Amino acid sequence: MDLHTAASKTALMVCAYRARASRWPTPLFVDPWAETIAGPDGHEIARRLDARFAPMELWLALRVAYLDRLVGMAVDRLSIRQVVILGAGYDTRAARLPRAGVRFFEVDHPATQAAKREQLGKLAGYPVDAATYVTCNFEREDPIERLAASGFAATEPALVIWEGVVPYLTEAAVRATATRLATGLDPRSLVAFDFVGKKLAAGQNLSASDEQTRAYVGELGEPIQYGSDDMLPLLYECGFRWVRSLDFNELALELLGDYKRDRQFRFQHIALASVRTPVANWP
Ligand SMILES: C[S@@+](CC[C@H](N)C(=O)[O-])C[C@H]1O[C@@H](n2cnc3c(N)ncnc32)[C@H](O)[C@@H]1O
Repeated sequence: MDLHTAASKTALMVCAYRARASRWPTPLFVDPWAETIAGPDGHEIARRLDARFAPMELWLALRVAYLDRLVGMAVDRLSIRQVVILGAGYDTRAARLPRAGVRFFEVDHPATQAAKREQLGKLAGYPVDAATYVTCNFEREDPIERLAASGFAATEPALVIWEGVVPYLTEAAVRATATRLATGLDPRSLVAFDFVGKKLAAGQNLSASDEQTRAYVGELGEPIQYGSDDMLPLLYECGFRWVRSLDFNELALELLGDYKRDRQFRFQHIALASVRTPVANWP
């Protein structure tokens, strides 16, 4: 069922977290536009989640920093010249990470994309033309067709970042989209997305914090619908033949240099998938 009809509130919420993480004394990234885009509404939505799930800011910062780094690696090591942001929300990578000859495509549900474009139009200095904007509802549309209609070259490799979206889709939409990415993109492409565990999606045997988090995003109008403890079988069935999965404790250890048991990163992972091994010695 497509439950998504209005501009995404969770997109505004994660934008507020990016604004906050950009103010860390030693930030993992700086998003200079996030503060203005998030505005008081975004910060209020984030503050209300803090009370339920304190590690969210840290989780978000690690996710953004890792995926930012992946853009650089894809351009430098895989010679990729097309970056596709699926379910872009208020993502500003097209403006923050420009590279000569690299095109950014932002794909999103029409309701959220319209709200974003209105916001960007009001932001002094924002390079609106840094991205090509493509509307697509993953519950019923083919992202490759939508991209191709906007000048995306399906015969050239792409990095696809699908950040903070998969949990909000039905399994059917996750499968349909992943299948189109595996079959419709150039096989040298790389897909990256984060996902939550099965129990969180199903609402079974959860801690009070996880239960409240799940209920809260549902109240925002974007219930968590899909989770998995192991993406490999689904990605295999969709056509991928190279899969890696990273956990957030590993990312925290690498990017922050420490591990804390109480961070509650038990349910969140990032998956990387490709139709073939990206290059020799790819991590
Ligand atoms: C939590 S936000 C993440 C936004 C952005 N990727 C980020 O990390 O800042 C979820 C995004 O998924 C998009 N989304 C949810 N359901 C969708 C659907 N059926 N089709 C297209 N986009 C969808 C929303 O529009 C929103 O932009």
